[in-house]
Amino acid sequence: MTYPKLNLPIRPRRLRQAPWLRAMVAETTLRPADLIWPLFVQEGAGKVTPIEGLPNVERLSIDMVIDAAREAASLGIPAIALFPVTPAEKKSEDGREAYNAENLMCRAIRAVKKAVPEIGIIADVALDPYTTHGHDGVLGASGDVANDITVAALCKQAVTLAQAGCDIVAPSDMMDGRIGEIRTALDAAGHENVIILSYAVKYASALYGPFRAAVGSATNLGKADKRTYQMNPANRIEALREVMLDVEQGADMVMVKPATFYLDIISAVKEVVAVPTLAYHVSGEYAMVKAAAAAGMLDEKAVMLENLLAIKRAGADAIFTYAARDVARYLAE
Ligand code: PBG
Repeated sequence: MTYPKLNLPIRPRRLRQAPWLRAMVAETTLRPADLIWPLFVQEGAGKVTPIEGLPNVERLSIDMVIDAAREAASLGIPAIALFPVTPAEKKSEDGREAYNAENLMCRAIRAVKKAVPEIGIIADVALDPYTTHGHDGVLGASGDVANDITVAALCKQAVTLAQAGCDIVAPSDMMDGRIGEIRTALDAAGHENVIILSYAVKYASALYGPFRAAVGSATNLGKADKRTYQMNPANRIEALREVMLDVEQGADMVMVKPATFYLDIISAVKEVVAVPTLAYHVSGEYAMVKAAAAAGMLDEKAVMLENLLAIKRAGADAIFTYAARDVARYLAE
């Protein structure tokens, strides 16, 4: 059977004929400079402890964090994001260890800054690694997280982290008004160049499970959830309100979290704010890809690259991902 040749002057496939051409007209690119690597810091020396539920991610003692930071820098990853695994005996009702200048985070920041000055250090600001109840703030009489007392604690925590030498503080707590207060506190302490990356849009997602297990806040939190401060996954307009408030208060960058289920939010945020928009490819998103790949169901490398490219295409300027090192290696191949 013969087919008639179509009278078809416009053929989009023309631009897909060869790899060089596809590369030339690619609208989105993924580079190591787009990736931020979250690392879990633990006490001890020479310690590398696997995390159940987060394949190929480990809790690292400070000396091991230094090695990881060095490797990240050599791969072109611009920054690491540190999260502490706080020993149970250091946790308290009000999470005061968060602003102890000798806490694990501060010691890790000082050590990494000294050993690997060329990498950026992002420090999380929230009380959940430090509270016995696992919430991101201090509890009020009603049993709910009390906003304004918590903001005061977060300011102390942010100044303590800045003092230790971090480049970026990243409040991930979702309290109202904390960005303006933290900016004021940082400036008053002489840290006007410390950057604020606000987790402006953080959903009360079911995808944080492996992270909570990793930092040990899952057992503290028990059956409780964070729905009175993290956002309802049903909402989009509210995300815009949150980012606008945080930018007005002085956020230098904003984050949307999680990423893959919220690409519409990343895209909407990117259109309304004039600051960089970051996205957090969270523990549960990473774990899904890893688990499916381990079960032989998906091609890990191809899916991870497509996943992160999609987050960039949606509008993210950079991505927090546990796959940062793997992906930076793939991109170097
Ligand atoms: C806590 C915090 C969480 C994550 C980053 N900072 C967990 C939470 O809100 O319970 C989650 C990251 C992840 O799942 O990878 N302030």
